[in-house]
Amino acid sequence: MSEQLKNRKIILGVTGGIAAYKACTLCRLLVKNGASVFVIMTPSATKLINKTTFEALSGHRVFVDIFDRTEDISHISLANEADLFVIAPATANTISKIVNGAADNMLTAAVLAAICPIAVAPAMNNNMYNNVATQENLNTLNKRGVYILTPNYGNLACGSVGTGRMKEPEEIFDDICSILAHRLTSKSETEGLPNYQGKLPSPVKPLELSQTKLLPKAYGVGFKVLITAGPTVEPIDPVRYISNYSSGKMGYMLAQTAQALGAEVTLVSGPVNLDCPKGVRKIDVKTAIQMLSAVEDYAQRSDIVIGCAAVADYRAQNVASCKLKKEDDQDSLCLNLVKNPDIIATVGKLEHNRPFTVGFAAETENGVNYAIEKLHKKHLDLIVLNDVSKPDIGFNADDNEITVFDKDGQIAHFGKQSKAIIAQYLMELIFKTCKKSKD
Ligand code: PMT
Repeated sequence: MSEQLKNRKIILGVTGGIAAYKACTLCRLLVKNGASVFVIMTPSATKLINKTTFEALSGHRVFVDIFDRTEDISHISLANEADLFVIAPATANTISKIVNGAADNMLTAAVLAAICPIAVAPAMNNNMYNNVATQENLNTLNKRGVYILTPNYGNLACGSVGTGRMKEPEEIFDDICSILAHRLTSKSETEGLPNYQGKLPSPVKPLELSQTKLLPKAYGVGFKVLITAGPTVEPIDPVRYISNYSSGKMGYMLAQTAQALGAEVTLVSGPVNLDCPKGVRKIDVKTAIQMLSAVEDYAQRSDIVIGCAAVADYRAQNVASCKLKKEDDQDSLCLNLVKNPDIIATVGKLEHNRPFTVGFAAETENGVNYAIEKLHKKHLDLIVLNDVSKPDIGFNADDNEITVFDKDGQIAHFGKQSKAIIAQYLMELIFKTCKKSKD
């Protein structure tokens, strides 16, 4: 029995797709693991599976007609009491109805009345899935906080091969467990929404990074993104160097999120203690010169370049080949430093195939002015300001708080929260702003 499912009330919505038969296995898995499952079918679904099957599997009456009601159960009371509403399979038609707030059958009416988290598992022909209407509908649902259980690539009932095959019941079961684990530790969690102060109001708490695989991939699909992360390390002699406290967490979160959103991601990383996110190409570098060289290799092949690395502004003019010795008669040591190239400014100033260029500003005082100055000086499209004077955000912290500027001023502010969530908001904003700049 699963801890996440014990005593949970789950509405399983079944629509008229051929994958409806897989909903039987899902229903059985949920019940077996302790959930109370209430099935609502659309009239078309009943043409594919008999409602008696679900009644036997769930142990509860199955609802189809909006006028179906027992003494104490209607679409409103079902929707009021559920911990999670999962629609599997979700046809393009039902997805479109949900987007538009239709309530023309028991299932769509219950969705409209639901106050619990909702997850949809699309299942349809690949062309229907890729159609801009469906993608925009899924994006809209995702923005409203609906979990999209992205379909798999494979053989489809219509004979085509492509993306549109509903996730397997076991995969949906795992997704349900992770949604419940995250969302329902306290039933009042949905009331305590994050203090979102930007221009992209999100009605629900965004997903943790481990769950970004649940997001629709549409935001980042077709984008090549290059991200720098971590510190650079500038040698003084074979055992000493100049560096800073960057842990790489912010840049790695951005890379992982961009990849989860469907982008092709290259990460140029200084020395850090983090694993490369799955599906991301990583290039390891140490110095600013090496980082510049890697960035120059990829920048003009990228649509977006994000400079999150804390690049050392200066390096030792001469690197000693042997360990510098402490001299008895020397109370001080003068190191001659020379300026490092400015990597993100080099990208911002490209004249051909210039990517959409985003920099970070790590400031300890007068942040807004310095950030805006850097945006212009480095020819950036966006700059992300973070205050690195506070120990609980910025360098080597798990959280961050950022303000984003474009050439016309502030466009968003994301209050203090985990770098995983900041990365999710920021990547969505970057993809959207980049797309808009190309229109
Ligand atoms: O790695 P974490 O521990 O998670 O911390 C994250 C962070 C605080 C390092 C990150 O959020 C951040 O602010 N990164 C930028 C750090 C920085 O070097 O800021 P800056 O204000 O000095 O530089 C401005 C921009 O120019 C940055 O995009 C930087 O990458 C870039 N730059 C700077 C100098 C240089 N020689 N080349 C550059 O490309």
